[in-house]
Amino acid sequence: MRGIAFIGAGRMASAMVAGLLRDAVYPADEIACTCGEDPTGPELAQRTGITYEPSVQALIERAETIVLACKPQQFAALDPALAEYSKGRLIVSILAGTPLARLAVKFPYARNIVRAMPNTPGQIGQGVTGYASRDPLTSEDDALANRILGSLGLVVALSEDKLDAVTAVSGSGPAYVFEFTAALREAAEQAGLPPDVADILAKETVVGSALLMRESGTDPVELRKAVTSPGGTTQAALESLEADGFRAIVDRAVLAATRRSVELAKA
Ligand SMILES: NC(=O)c1ccc[n+]([C@@H]2O[C@H](COP(=O)([O-])OP(=O)(O)OC[C@H]3O[C@@H](n4cnc5c(N)ncnc54)[C@H](OP(=O)(O)O)[C@@H]3O)[C@@H](O)[C@H]2O)c1
Repeated sequence: MRGIAFIGAGRMASAMVAGLLRDAVYPADEIACTCGEDPTGPELAQRTGITYEPSVQALIERAETIVLACKPQQFAALDPALAEYSKGRLIVSILAGTPLARLAVKFPYARNIVRAMPNTPGQIGQGVTGYASRDPLTSEDDALANRILGSLGLVVALSEDKLDAVTAVSGSGPAYVFEFTAALREAAEQAGLPPDVADILAKETVVGSALLMRESGTDPVELRKAVTSPGGTTQAALESLEADGFRAIVDRAVLAATRRSVELAKA
């Protein structure tokens, strides 16, 4: 019993399978998946060489680890027999807003349960994922959870009460960056640039700045200072952002997302 079984074979499961194969965490013949009524499972199997298994019991039989990767709203409809089948297994759930206590009802005999919050850049292996566990993880299970979630990008361990903030920062965060990019593109057009030029300048500025931040390892405030000459154009723009309360706006947005995450987990 060494393999890994995916319940759900959609975008995130596909990204994880691609990452696990790329990093040689598991060979294809130790990875299996199942899906709902659409053919995402057989399609993923055909693309990657993993096994598609329609029977949940057969799926789990050979797996030491189960990744829960269906939609949160599909969770309630999962086969109740999973409780027995998953006995002694490590469960790794990437379901947004589904607390460990709710997962534990479906998997009461699991060895341990990990609740993870990935983000959309995980779809290309560039994500960052926060995770928490029901019981303290053994060093073996912690390493296993890291290797599995590492298929989506960077991994950060936290206590579960921090996952609402993780959801608000890195889970929803890509949307803030996309919205900022769209705003920059709109402003570029307002400034008189043709739409195709505005589009490429806005997108490449965001991508290039993000890569510079990562590759240089320099703090974002330092990078900002480095492009801001006293009395220059960048300073004029930054003063305008400050006067309009840019940081307070971001702060309120993250607080709103955190509050909503808390509400959704209770629903
Ligand atoms: N997308 C992201 O970037 C992101 C970020 C953070 C968290 N998440 C979480 O990741 C999870 C998956 O998201 P996704 O975007 O990959 O969703 P998705 O593409 O819609 O995939 C959902 C998968 O679950 C399968 N499924 C549905 N009912 C099932 C059942 N009863 N038993 C087994 N499998 C079943 C679906 O199968 P069929 O379609 O073939 O029926 C499909 O393969 C969600 O819980 C979401 O909260 C996603």
